Amino acid sequence: MNQVDPSRSTARRRIPAGSSAESKWRRHFWLRLVVPLTKRFATPFHLFSLLPFQARCEAADRALTGLPVRHWWSAKTLPLPTLWQWWRDQGRPIEVVSEFELQAALAAGFPPDSILVNGPAKHHWLDSFPHSGLNVNFDSLHEVAALVRRARQQRWRVGLRLTPTVMARSNARDRPGQFGMTVPELKTALQRLRRAGLEPEILHFHLGTQIESANLYAAALTGAAAVCRQLQWFPRFVDCGGGWPTDHVKDLTGRHVAHRFSLTEFARILQRARAEFPALKEYWLENGRWFCAPAGALVVRVLDVKPRGRIRYVICDGGRTLHAMISAWETHTVLSHPARRGRAVSTVITGPTCMTFDVLAESPLPENIRPGDFLVWLDAGAYNLSWETRFSHGFAPVLWHDGRTVREIRPAETFDAWWGRWRA
Ligand SMILES: Cc1ncc(COP(=O)(O)O)c(C=O)c1O
Repeated sequence: MNQVDPSRSTARRRIPAGSSAESKWRRHFWLRLVVPLTKRFATPFHLFSLLPFQARCEAADRALTGLPVRHWWSAKTLPLPTLWQWWRDQGRPIEVVSEFELQAALAAGFPPDSILVNGPAKHHWLDSFPHSGLNVNFDSLHEVAALVRRARQQRWRVGLRLTPTVMARSNARDRPGQFGMTVPELKTALQRLRRAGLEPEILHFHLGTQIESANLYAAALTGAAAVCRQLQWFPRFVDCGGGWPTDHVKDLTGRHVAHRFSLTEFARILQRARAEFPALKEYWLENGRWFCAPAGALVVRVLDVKPRGRIRYVICDGGRTLHAMISAWETHTVLSHPARRGRAVSTVITGPTCMTFDVLAESPLPENIRPGDFLVWLDAGAYNLSWETRFSHGFAPVLWHDGRTVREIRPAETFDAWWGRWRA
């Protein structure tokens, strides 16, 4: 067991988010944790710590005090069993979007009434689950038609997903998205469910990820309330999806993605919108990234250094292709160990795969970084495990820090597992 004692490092909650004191705190916290691990575990590895995650849960609860809110864990954002168990032990529920995620949630001990099933085209798999009491948001008229009988038999609590007219800039296209239903479809879905004796209780929308401003939720709530009035539908649960943005992450132009987002403003918006939903019992939220991004780090080792004119390539044993797909559109803080003090040189940090795409970060780093040094890519807790690949290499190990000790919860993939999964 690792002897790190990060409990000493949590003046965390007193440090204002985004301050330079917070940057120092993050640096100190992660280096204290990572440095001893580099002697015990081979790189690359994913490292998750419960402490920043707990701090997020407390911050969310504080910001939304007094509001009837339930947070559903977004399984896809971080499919990590130890974290799911901690979340479940807090009495919190989970949101799943696939057959495997539903099986995993049941295996992790979530009772069916603490599981919310979202996602498209689930009529192709959900019918085979015999569990009573699930919460299910229908995404299309085909789903409604195919699952309405099962919904009644198994006493599901059902909802309808509305295609919102506003979307996050990061998700906006010049065409509507594939999720949810239009207003005429919603009307038909309501009629069909009511004819079958089922009253949908959940109104759901999801605006995308890295939502730039809480005002987008305000616009979506106003639009959704107008639709409900038009259809004479009075949902008891208004599910605003996920999408809160990550504090320390920048887009590729160098702008903080969360610079205009305020949780206090979000709370005010929910408070104001209560009056628009006369039957409202609870708001449901499905945020993943905001909670878990700061709880993860990717640790890689420098294998080679290649100067190329005014820039320099630092080739590492881990990177975007294998471990950090989101680095394609996000810029994260990179720490190095041991401390090197030379002049900063423009550096392209790459992974080991034979793809020019495999760029983890572009960042000024001290000129005397050398093979054998370690780099720590922060805010790696969201979407990296769900998106990792086996491109020329096996999966990296995963380490879990429960606040006191660190243990390996998934070993590195062996060659036999990597190659041996094929049938002869
Ligand atoms: C329906 C739904 N809910 C919640 C989430 C979680 O979003 P985030 O991790 O950005 O909070 C997603 C992400 O795609 C989603 O599709």
